Amino acid sequence: ATTIAVTPERAQPRRDEPDTLDQCRRCDLWRNATQAVPGVGPKKARIMLVGEQPGDQEDLQGQPFVGPAGAVLDRALAEAGVERDHVYLTNAVKHFKWELRGKRRLHKTPAQREVAACHVWLEEELARVKPDVVVALGATALKSVMKDGSATMSAVMDAPFQHEGRWVVAVYHPSFVLRARDEESRRQAYEVIVAGLREALKLAP
Ligand code: URA
Repeated sequence: ATTIAVTPERAQPRRDEPDTLDQCRRCDLWRNATQAVPGVGPKKARIMLVGEQPGDQEDLQGQPFVGPAGAVLDRALAEAGVERDHVYLTNAVKHFKWELRGKRRLHKTPAQREVAACHVWLEEELARVKPDVVVALGATALKSVMKDGSATMSAVMDAPFQHEGRWVVAVYHPSFVLRARDEESRRQAYEVIVAGLREALKLAP
């Protein structure tokens, strides 16, 4: 990880500094994170998957979806017939937000102001990759994709919809599968993700 000395008075990039994700100080999450985790994938991927934020492993490795939620996602992608290497993977928020519980860094849901502050980076990725389909993994991703802090999953989860000229598919976040209270709920949540990925593939074969 790169450490950049930045004082609070210089929270925004100076005019003579490049505005890079690594140096982003639009919110305070960089302070406790190891590094910013940018999106990865083909330059012109037809499908973009948007998660919430890096987890513990992602923060350490600098890559999205390489921890336990990533393992669920990999399984769902394989089952839906979507190749991980063919999709662009990113997050609504690029720094890991966490709190210490014992010795573990536990994920904390980002605040809406943090999602909004980080939105510029998702916009940059959308403009650069120009995917036909965006799969929003969970509510935080959906809010950022829709630029609407009050967007809810229940309103849109049944079917793909058009937003700003591209398809959006909203499914549960893979860690929702891991947190579900029993086997049946886990199976159902997982099936929603697989079905959504299949829809995405149909829209961008
Ligand atoms: N959860 C996410 O939303 N994104 C990741 O990259 C990892 C876990």
